[in-house]
Amino acid sequence: MQKFQSIKGFLFDLDGVITDTSIYHEMAWHQLADQLNIPWQAAFAEQLKGISREASLAVILDSTGKHVDYSEADKVAMATAKNDNYLKLLQQLTPDSIAPGIEAFLVELKQAGYAIGLASASKNAPIVLERLGLSDYFEARLDPATLKNGKPAPEIFERCAALLGLQPTECIGVEDAQSGIEAINAAGAISVGIGSKKVLTKAQICFEQTQDLTLANIRNAFH
Ligand code: BG6
Ligand code: MG
Repeated sequence: MQKFQSIKGFLFDLDGVITDTSIYHEMAWHQLADQLNIPWQAAFAEQLKGISREASLAVILDSTGKHVDYSEADKVAMATAKNDNYLKLLQQLTPDSIAPGIEAFLVELKQAGYAIGLASASKNAPIVLERLGLSDYFEARLDPATLKNGKPAPEIFERCAALLGLQPTECIGVEDAQSGIEAINAAGAISVGIGSKKVLTKAQICFEQTQDLTLANIRNAFH
């Protein structure tokens, strides 16, 4: 692991880190699965975190074990229906929905001079940040529509670091998804997981709760 002193920037995942919208993604997919008569599986909750809308739909359709050849138009309609469900749920978001300790951590990072980037797979990220009132903290946001390979590929973290003018090895990535932790590790950044260590087994550093995200705790966790 590189030294804490070499870190110059932080690359944040959004859903499940900055706010608990991973629950809304899950609810919106669950609604779609019910409409399609596809049985919901408990394992989807973790599997769908971090991966794109299209990849998530593929996981759900593949789970039936029936290899139905849906047309592209059908799949677009399904993904759009899920997103419509999700956008309705997002109407509940307010600045009170910011995960505990996150805004204080962003302030701490700014004051200490760290660069801050957003490495979210969500095309809805601008809406979410706007509703939370956090848009101004992020000096770089990678547009997920431009990605060739989503998480767990390293591209999103590599390119987000580059937008900040940094090498991935000069950055810490913060993630709640296994796919995201793998992407951070593959990029050569330091991975900080938010959630259970039993789930985020590949995280180099892991905190159970967002309020544990402080520079002091991260510095102490370096070895
Ligand atoms: C990620 C979520 O942040 O964004 C995934 O963890 C989601 O669950 C992905 O599928 C894409 O989001 P969107 O808003 O573009 O459908
Ligand atoms: Mg996430």
